[in-house]
Amino acid sequence: MDIIVAPGGTLHGSTAVPGDKSISHRWLVLAATAEGSSRLVGLPPSLDVRSTAACLAGLTGKPRPSLDVFARNAVSFVEGAGSTWNAPEEQASRSTLEVEGEGRSGLIAPTSALECGNSGTSMRLLAGVLAAAPFRCVLTGDTSLSGRPMDRVAVPLREMGASIDTTDGHAPITVTGGDLAGIRFAPEIPTAQVKGAVLFAGAAATGRTTVVEVVATRDHTERAFEALGAPVHRLDGEIHVSSFQHEGFEGVVPGDPSSAAFLIAAAALTGSQVAITGVGLNPSRLHFLDIMQRMGVRTVQTVTGLQVGEPVGTIEVLGCDEIRAVRVEPNEIALIIDEVPVLAALAAHATSDSWFLEAAELRVKESDRLRATAAGIRSLGGHAADEGSDLVVAGGGLSGGRVEAGGDHRMAMAFTVGALAASGPCRIDGIEAADVSFPGFVQTLRALGAALEETS
Ligand code: S3P
Repeated sequence: MDIIVAPGGTLHGSTAVPGDKSISHRWLVLAATAEGSSRLVGLPPSLDVRSTAACLAGLTGKPRPSLDVFARNAVSFVEGAGSTWNAPEEQASRSTLEVEGEGRSGLIAPTSALECGNSGTSMRLLAGVLAAAPFRCVLTGDTSLSGRPMDRVAVPLREMGASIDTTDGHAPITVTGGDLAGIRFAPEIPTAQVKGAVLFAGAAATGRTTVVEVVATRDHTERAFEALGAPVHRLDGEIHVSSFQHEGFEGVVPGDPSSAAFLIAAAALTGSQVAITGVGLNPSRLHFLDIMQRMGVRTVQTVTGLQVGEPVGTIEVLGCDEIRAVRVEPNEIALIIDEVPVLAALAAHATSDSWFLEAAELRVKESDRLRATAAGIRSLGGHAADEGSDLVVAGGGLSGGRVEAGGDHRMAMAFTVGALAASGPCRIDGIEAADVSFPGFVQTLRALGAALEETS
């Protein structure tokens, strides 16, 4: 599906965004490996999260109709013995999944390969969980995921004692789990997926596992472990965990701040005031707001609650008089790894050149996002270039044009947002990619007042 974005107009009102993808993956894994029942409210029906649910359904002994149905059709209503998935369509954003866990030792060998689809987080986190499971299991993914690096997770898990075979460093990967021993791991590349995998493996290893982070990444695994009473300690950039088995838990998944970022940028570019409610306010996810502030976007956050260690609340966009150019330093990239495309879309409307320095990690995301961002901005009538590890975006605005999302959700949404302030109409091809993390993205923008017309 394609959309035509008619520039102009302002947005107004308040909205929620689908549940946080990173948190959902982790809570699903924790629910499926808990001893006892868990109740998760507000899981997003995004394709990536469904991939994790589908893999977990293949790893649990008793039938898990709730996980199966959530994986296949996130707006169905099913009641199963022990596990229920209750998601009437009108309440999809607050849907409830109940999972009966039998502990980590209750996991069984799947009868076929586990399909992770487009989701790198599913594959890497599950590799960490399966590293301690006493069976062989193959993890596969789509074409995009099969091109992404997997040695970064295989190397530390092997060091802990698991046998991991990759396909030339990529998926499919075969994990044969077993007895693990804790390690001290200092990743060369800051990545929350690999940190999460090592911490999940560390929760089943003998001795202490330590991850040393020179540059901080999102800390959802640590927060969930802490909330579940695990022996996890954090000090001076080091995270230590020892073996534990948790019990079931309840939580309402906070809205995804990375999805909110698109709406905040849309409000800024149209000179609007909007509020995003029920959104996750974990500081390790909000550095993009600091960068937006440097660009002239005024926002305010209010924490209203806490869910399984995660602060939740509201982000209000107060206004933006003029978008200023920004220089994003190398040590900031890990903290805005998912928001670079939307920040670049904002930068295309700044008064002068913006720089994103040493952002090569974006080249191994769902697509080469450095190349795709620069090329997309040019296709929409702006000026940008990816040079080595850097991205430079010339300000001055977009004049309009046509761009292809290339199957990458964040590119589809970033281009749509950038187009809202173009001086001519823009066509975004392949907008359905947004469903990977933000189902309902187009409808949400429209409900706030954006003029988006679907076309085929
Ligand atoms: C994620 C971590 C990030 C991010 C991805 C989700 C996670 O990747 O890009 O969308 O849930 O751990 P890395 O930190 O591994 O680069």
